[in-house]
Amino acid sequence: MYRTHTCGELRQAHINQTVTLSGWVQRTRDLGGMSFVDLRDRYGITQLAFNNETNADLYEQSRKLGREFVIQTTGKVVERYSKNLTIPTGEIEILVETITILSKSETPPFTIEDETDGGEELRLKYRYIDLRRNAARKHLEVRHKMAQEVRRYLDDLNFLEVETPVLIKSTPEGARDFVVPSRLHKGTFYALPQSPQVFKQLLMVSGFDRYFQIVKCFRDEDFRSDRQPEFTQIDCEMAFVEQEDILKTFEGLAKHLFKKLKDIDYTEPYPRMTFAEAMENYGNDRPDIRFEMKIKNITELTRGADFKVFDEAEFVGGICVEGAWEYTRKQLDALTEYVKRPQIGAKGLVYVRFGTDGSLKSSVDKFYNEEKLKTWAAAFGAKPGDLMLILSGTKKATLPQLSELRLEMGKQLGFRKGDTFAPLWVLDFPLLEWNEESHRYHAMHHPFTSPKIEDIGKMYTAPGEVRANAYDLVVNGSEVGGGSIRIFDSNLQKQMFDLLGFTPEEAEKQFGFLINAFRYGAPPHGGIALGFDRLVSIFNNTDSIRDVIAFPKNNGGRDIMIETPSEIAEDQLKELHLLIRN
Ligand code: AMO
Repeated sequence: MYRTHTCGELRQAHINQTVTLSGWVQRTRDLGGMSFVDLRDRYGITQLAFNNETNADLYEQSRKLGREFVIQTTGKVVERYSKNLTIPTGEIEILVETITILSKSETPPFTIEDETDGGEELRLKYRYIDLRRNAARKHLEVRHKMAQEVRRYLDDLNFLEVETPVLIKSTPEGARDFVVPSRLHKGTFYALPQSPQVFKQLLMVSGFDRYFQIVKCFRDEDFRSDRQPEFTQIDCEMAFVEQEDILKTFEGLAKHLFKKLKDIDYTEPYPRMTFAEAMENYGNDRPDIRFEMKIKNITELTRGADFKVFDEAEFVGGICVEGAWEYTRKQLDALTEYVKRPQIGAKGLVYVRFGTDGSLKSSVDKFYNEEKLKTWAAAFGAKPGDLMLILSGTKKATLPQLSELRLEMGKQLGFRKGDTFAPLWVLDFPLLEWNEESHRYHAMHHPFTSPKIEDIGKMYTAPGEVRANAYDLVVNGSEVGGGSIRIFDSNLQKQMFDLLGFTPEEAEKQFGFLINAFRYGAPPHGGIALGFDRLVSIFNNTDSIRDVIAFPKNNGGRDIMIETPSEIAEDQLKELHLLIRN
């Protein structure tokens, strides 16, 4: 028997018992005559004690144990002389009687501590060692617990967990597909699912009524800290539902998770905001509403003062930062540099300081006197002590820039702490968005999303104005879920494909199976998918979803531990009928 107890289990009640433990050597301390070894496993750390006087042999052995050796030890549980009350086993130690090295370890490439000396790339290369660290393990424990609670909640509501295939045909979620060449069918490819979208809709046609799956999805898209090329969704679909039914069910799921994992009770319904309101007030369709600082439009108030930049701008808007009037010139210069970064792309930043004495001073004093600035302050709802930050340009470009500035100020002022959570629903997304490159409309969510009945008339006359029955769940500025009510009428679905620029033949070729299925009795249905990694990351307050994935890809989309993507042998290429183009 390798062990009678784990390294996190022993307490005062076990004193005088002889026990066997197995684990990793966290650290050894030699005090001359006495030595101590911290033995670690998933459950905790237990101190082993060795005494030169009572057993010189063992004492010698203990001094030779290296970090991360795997050992087995037997000994007596005794009360500890100097107790360590910061760990649960800190009142006892094991007076060691035997010790066996089960496996030696080379010196690990970084320390297995909460604050490790290893950089991220190194830790990803040796992820199996990194996962020994408390923080990494805890993240995966939360992930596990969340998965259990998701299943519990949905099972109680009669959702059925159904697996769907991974080798499929392209799904239209807006990213590029990862493809897999077929050996048996020369020149053809499978695509990995960007989501199980079409299958869950087919399951509704099959009468399954309520489906869910915790499922891997694959998208070849640009990297961000909250994106991975393979990620996990809590994917759900329901039949005979309207938008309200879905929102209620999944707000319920979110509340259940907050209660079970964070012991947070949300007694009020989550706030709801339309896409248009979110863009207007926050410049962003996933607003962080842990703080206000809403965007105000002051375009008209800036006109006619001969300040060319504002006069020529389609839109002038800003935010009012409460109590920040004392921001120094240096800090303001840094903010200007911040918004001018290529990722944000503003041309410059105008500020107005509202002194606590009621004075108004701006970086454009040459053009706007205090009377004028007062009208701005009124529009911002600013009071003495506040700082107004203003950007200008086209509306389309400036709103997202202001969003970035708002988020940065929220961070600087400490409003974006990871231990508070502000969930909300964003509703009424546009059905379509114009794509400048392809010069046509793309589905904003996906092509199966239903337009609002009252907007259907505009599908051909003003497609850009048609709103969809589509919704996102947003927490702390992160889109944690998205879904929609689906089209279930094959004619409307055909119209939608037509709007998206598919010829009837193309639509038939790509989605014929779905159009066909709708001919055999499709119930009204709708659904949602929650980004499981994002949810776990928010619950764990981590910077990146990589932290909550056991074996993630790095920011170049590579797994640097197993070294993939990698080349394949010429034989394999041949078998797959592939030739690499240069
Ligand atoms: P959507 O594309 O909005 O909807 O995806 C749902 C949620 O999945 C998460 N997510 C990601 N997480 C990590 N890395 C990625 N690359 C990534 N992409 C998306 C987000 C997002 O809100 N089939 C529809 C759902 C439906 O209509 O029911 C879909 O996939 O949290």
